[in-house]
Amino acid sequence: MPATKETGLSALKRPLVLGIETSCDETAAAIVAADRTVLAHRVLSQVDDHAEFGGVVPEIAARQHISHLDHLLRDLMDEADLNFKDLDAIAATTGPGLVGGLMVGVMTAKAVARASGKPFVAVNHLEGHALTVRLADDVPFPYLLLLVSGGHCQILMVEGVGRYTRLGTTIDDAAGEAFDKTAKLLGLGYPGGPAVEAAAREGNPKRFKLPKPMVGKPGCNFSFSGLKTAVRRLAEDCVARQGVLTKKDRADICAAFQEALGACLVDRLKRATALFREQVGAGDHPFVVAGGVAANQYLRNELEALAASEGLRFFAPPLALCTDNGAMIAWAGLERFAADPTIDDLDVSVRPRWPLDENAKPMVGKGKKGAKA
Ligand code: KG4
Ligand code: ZN
Repeated sequence: MPATKETGLSALKRPLVLGIETSCDETAAAIVAADRTVLAHRVLSQVDDHAEFGGVVPEIAARQHISHLDHLLRDLMDEADLNFKDLDAIAATTGPGLVGGLMVGVMTAKAVARASGKPFVAVNHLEGHALTVRLADDVPFPYLLLLVSGGHCQILMVEGVGRYTRLGTTIDDAAGEAFDKTAKLLGLGYPGGPAVEAAAREGNPKRFKLPKPMVGKPGCNFSFSGLKTAVRRLAEDCVARQGVLTKKDRADICAAFQEALGACLVDRLKRATALFREQVGAGDHPFVVAGGVAANQYLRNELEALAASEGLRFFAPPLALCTDNGAMIAWAGLERFAADPTIDDLDVSVRPRWPLDENAKPMVGKGKKGAKA
């Protein structure tokens, strides 16, 4: 029998969930089914709109989301050949993130939910990153998670959907932020992560010595601001000595930076593994890396080697699902909705700050540091 829309739909394992992501500088949406089928997937990057400012400008981001989300959703539904009424739930990133962008995504999702009579699911962006790996692979709970993105750097024990215990966090910059600032300092453009990785591939990591903050210290917290300052000094020294910063200098600095940052991650994770084992016992439990920085191949290799030496099974999402996207929000929405179909209503408000482990006290101070903690 030829596949019709009806037979195609009934073959999919429900729920079928639309996810919308607008928390930063990607306007993204996707539709996923419980059997891990991604029916349609769209990401519209705003990189060009922010490049001249060297970072994301919140007002520009919100305006771009407003301009693009409607037609992106129309294209997405056309690609999947679905109506909103065919879906089981509408999920949107509700925090943490830039408030203007969050409001655009959440208001749109609520409008679609209301018009189609489907439930709305509020998704924590960090939970999107934390669960993405389960969209790609059959990864069982519990797992040890390194969440490394532009706004966060955390080690978490993931015991189930909505069940997170933070083992470590950054006390200043996030890992992605360190990549972005290093790129900016070296004139490599924005976004910094891929540019630093590409430059590092050509570089000699042994020419310069950079600090590895927190390595050997008790606990599992990170600190990257000293590393960033050391990169700036190194670049200034090169210019003072030679008058210019050559392509080779840049490459060598990037390679040293990446190696130092990787060593920090590995050191902290060794400690976290011991804490994780105290909770979950022996066995080859999964170790997962997620978030934009997880797209870095050098770091993936280092982390895979660490997992092997600790007797953990290594998992990382495919590259396209590491940086912000709609599928991760659809999938986290689906997992939450499957666990409790009555979870959220249309009164839910956006939350620019929203820790994954709700009950945890900020580990370091208040304000910026508290929120990142
Ligand atoms: O997860 P994400 O898309 O957004 C946030 O939730 O923050 O992460 C973006 C971050 C940026 O800081 C970007 O520079 C970094 O991920 N990133 C990378 C790479 N690709 C993206 N960092 C290192 N190497 C990469 N290949
Ligand atoms: Zn993200």
